[in-house]
Amino acid sequence: MSNENIIHTEFRGHEAARLISPSVERNKIPIGNALVNFLPKGANILEVASGTGEHAIHFCGLRPDIHWQPSDPDSESRKSQDEWSRDFRDQINLSHNISTLKPNWANRLNNYDIVFCANMIHIAPWSATVGLIEGSYSVLQRFGMLVLYGPFLDGKNSAHSNLRFDERLKGQNSCWGVREINDICNVSNVYGFKLYKTINMPSNNKILIFKKL
Ligand SMILES: C[S@@+](CC[C@H](N)C(=O)[O-])C[C@H]1O[C@@H](n2cnc3c(N)ncnc32)[C@H](O)[C@@H]1O
Repeated sequence: MSNENIIHTEFRGHEAARLISPSVERNKIPIGNALVNFLPKGANILEVASGTGEHAIHFCGLRPDIHWQPSDPDSESRKSQDEWSRDFRDQINLSHNISTLKPNWANRLNNYDIVFCANMIHIAPWSATVGLIEGSYSVLQRFGMLVLYGPFLDGKNSAHSNLRFDERLKGQNSCWGVREINDICNVSNVYGFKLYKTINMPSNNKILIFKKL
C-alpha cells in the first residue's frame, strides 16, 4: 500500500495474485440478488474501489449482458482484479487506476449507466465521498445511477453495530468514519443527484441508489 488512506480493513487471503475477501464471500450473493434485476439491459458499469475484484465476476456471471470497468488506486488490488477477470475478458475490462481523491479522476470517462462503489467511503476521508459523487455525475449519462453499498449512519435510527464500527474506524484514522445518509444526500443534491432507492441489506448494511437528474 502506497498511501495510508488506501486501505482495506479486513484480512485478505490470496491465491497467487488473486486476493480473496471473506466479506465479499458473505455479501456478494445478497448484493447480487438485490441488483440482478435492477441493472439496465446491457449496462455499462464503472466500479470504483473494486478491491479484490470478486464482486465484478459474481455480478457479470449473473448478468452476461453487462460490461464492467473495475478500478482501484491500489496496484496489488488492480492486479487481483485483472487476474479474477481473466475468464470474463469480453465483459470485464482491465482495471483503471482511479482514486476519487484526485480532482480529475473522471476526465475522459463517460456514458456509464451505473457507478458502483462498495465499502469505500467509510475508510477514506470525506473528500473521497465528495469526489466520488462529483466525478460520478460527469461519467454517468442522464438518469444514470450511483450505487453505494456498505454501512451507513441514519441519525437516531443508526444501528448500534454501525455506531461502534464508526468509533473503531475513527480510532484507526480520524478522517475515516461511517457516513451519515443525510450528509451523502446533501452532497449528492448539490451535484445533481436525487436519492432514488434505499435497500436494507444483511448485517445493517444498505444499498443507496442515487439517480442523476
Ligand atoms: C474495504 S475495500 C472494499 C473493496 C471492495 N469494494 C469490496 O467491497 O470488497 C476498500 C477499497 O477502497 C479503495 N480506496 C480507498 N480509497 C479510495 C479512493 N479515494 N478512491 C478509490 N478507491 C479507494 C482501497 O484501495 C480498497 O481497495
